[in-house]
Amino acid sequence: MVKDLYNRNIDYLRISITDKCNLRCRYCMAEDQKFSEDSLSLEEFLKISEIMIDKGIKKIRITGGEPLVEKNIFKLIEGFRDQGIEDISITTNGILLAEYVKDLKAAGLNRINISLDTLNEEKYEYITRGGKLSKVFEGIKACKEYDISPIKLNVVLLKDFNLDEFEDFLEFSDREDLIVRFIELMPIGEGIKFKDQLVKNSDIINNCKSLKKYNYKSNTGPADYYYREGKNGLIGFISPLSCNFCSSCNRIRLDHEANLISCLHSDKLISLKDALNDDEEIGNIIDKAIRDKPKNHKILQGHTVKRSMNTIGG
Ligand code: 5AD
Ligand code: SF4
Repeated sequence: MVKDLYNRNIDYLRISITDKCNLRCRYCMAEDQKFSEDSLSLEEFLKISEIMIDKGIKKIRITGGEPLVEKNIFKLIEGFRDQGIEDISITTNGILLAEYVKDLKAAGLNRINISLDTLNEEKYEYITRGGKLSKVFEGIKACKEYDISPIKLNVVLLKDFNLDEFEDFLEFSDREDLIVRFIELMPIGEGIKFKDQLVKNSDIINNCKSLKKYNYKSNTGPADYYYREGKNGLIGFISPLSCNFCSSCNRIRLDHEANLISCLHSDKLISLKDALNDDEEIGNIIDKAIRDKPKNHKILQGHTVKRSMNTIGG
């Protein structure tokens, strides 16, 4: 197990397998966003994951862009499973889920997080610049049919856009029996332009007296969970700004261009590109990236990240 300088066990790898996306969410991507053509091959992704697993990675999440636009995804999941990873998950916008969930499950996918910021059709079309909400609902239904559990929804609340839907999301969580998690908007890429729209989770929790703290056993991540008396929905809050969780961070990230990123809130990229034919060198660079992982982010001191969110996937 590789520990960083601050004694954090780094056992969770997040891989952004593409920067491409079939939506253009306003706080994530510019309308005229250009994508990179350069990408690691299936074999290269699996070579890096194998070395990472040797170093103690136990859990892998595949992100994007939108990971389901990348056709290698099924082979990648199979590959991670064959390498012994028992917890393989994806973060998706859900548009293609109805079509793919059966094959994802067969490949070995364990868990799915779906990004969904509104339950209103027109608002969905607006925030995603053209997405069809009905497709996401079909995707959620398909996940249930194929026994994907738990299903988690990721919601970024914006003051003038969807804060008024907070209660609707709580009800949606009860009705659909899924976990809704509110993620604070982070000052990354296009998100910087929405700074004045930030809703602090600490304010919501203080104002919503019916929320009771819940000790969610399988929770190893940064979310704090809550429930409401007599309701079956579970509500999570991920609060990088109002409740910093850096001291328990167990993550390292890899992007599709072979860059390691040891902190989401740093612009520093550590490239594996020139080492791809040398396993030992890949291992050395990974060790160094983990060792140099920053102690914490500096968002509250005004630090922002230029990189656009679709190259890193949260
Ligand atoms: N702050 C917080 N979350 C963001 N996402 C994209 N940009 C931001 C941001 N600036 C979320 C998406 C998706 C996940 C991949 O990251 O809504 O749920
Ligand atoms: Fe981890 Fe960096 Fe996020 Fe802190 S800011 S939780 S160290 S990725």
